[in-house]
Amino acid sequence: MTAWIEGRVAARRAWTDTLCSLEVEAPALDFVAGQFARLALPAPPGEKDPMLGRPYSFVNPPGAPLHEFYFNVVPGGPLTPRLAALGPGDALWLGPRANGFLSIPEIPVADALWLISTGTGLGPFLSILRTPDPWEKFGRVVLVHAVRHASALNYADVIAGVARERAGAFSFVPVVSREPHPGALTGRIPALIGDGRLEARAGVPLTADNAHAMLCGNPAMVDDVQAALAGRGMKRHRRKEPGHITLETYW
Ligand SMILES: Cc1cc2nc3c(=O)[nH]c(=O)nc-3n(C[C@H](O)[C@H](O)[C@H](O)COP(=O)(O)OP(=O)(O)OC[C@H]3O[C@@H](n4cnc5c(N)ncnc54)[C@H](O)[C@@H]3O)c2cc1C
Ligand SMILES: NC(=O)c1ccc[n+]([C@@H]2O[C@H](COP(=O)([O-])OP(=O)(O)OC[C@H]3O[C@@H](n4cnc5c(N)ncnc54)[C@H](OP(=O)(O)O)[C@@H]3O)[C@@H](O)[C@H]2O)c1
Repeated sequence: MTAWIEGRVAARRAWTDTLCSLEVEAPALDFVAGQFARLALPAPPGEKDPMLGRPYSFVNPPGAPLHEFYFNVVPGGPLTPRLAALGPGDALWLGPRANGFLSIPEIPVADALWLISTGTGLGPFLSILRTPDPWEKFGRVVLVHAVRHASALNYADVIAGVARERAGAFSFVPVVSREPHPGALTGRIPALIGDGRLEARAGVPLTADNAHAMLCGNPAMVDDVQAALAGRGMKRHRRKEPGHITLETYW
């Protein structure tokens, strides 16, 4: 049985009706930037397991005083509406161990690192970008964040902070698919790779020779980007068979 660790909500931020972040005060948990924890609340009466848990990526870098999580409120979902209803001082539980392979130590060296996300898949990249690891391993780092509507382009202050600190080494490319938005590309990532607009905006090539791509979020985006990159000779990276693409799907 999981030995859940009790924590307390320190702060809650509702970005929109369906996007929420929680900062959680809990004992330190060892993790590598890019990994995820499990968050849980007591299961409804009559369930076999006493706790209802789901994986969530750390948004904060390791060593930060609070654990932070960014999540989509899935209407009718068993957990997320309850998580979103928590407020400061409320209890929630964390699994005792962090997991996952979407992290810099797991990937090979290249000239450029492309961090490609949809929606809340941005979270683990915000953790990674605030550690020294990507900057020591890659000359250039590109963050791509694709959302349906501009209201979901969140954490602008964190991204601006990275851009200030890493000027010359960092590019941010927002993508909004369902409305025009100043400064953002319009459309979907695979098409923007196909017609060269993504690389043109970033000013960094996305090729087997020069780049490693980390993909996170919507599984359909992850599949379609993998297919687009396969056309450029880029293949999935595995510990036993090095490649160019590392991924995590959220559902
Ligand atoms: C390794 C891993 C890390 C994850 N990290 C995060 C995270 O940091 N933030 C986060 O929001 N979710 C994350 N998820 C998804 C999360 O674990 C839950 O599945 C999600 O929050 C829905 O929980 P629920 O119980 O409310 O609804 P469920 O009944 O579990 O809902 C499932 C359905 O909701 C939709 N859905 C699930 N996750 C998302 C999402 N993120 N965005 C939009 N739609 C979704 C899908 O249609 C899915 O079939 C992660 C999943 C995995 C496997
Ligand atoms: N965002 C909301 O307002 C909202 C509200 C209620 C429920 N939900 C549910 O939440 C889930 C996801 O929410 P989300 O806001 O994170 O949006 P999402 O559906 O994951 O979309 C995020 C971005 O990914 C793009 N995308 C989707 N499929 C793709 C593919 N195959 N290849 C490349 N890009 C792709 C979307 O483009 P397109 O716009 O072209 O699809 C959008 O730009 C869905 O299951 C949805 O039903 C969302």
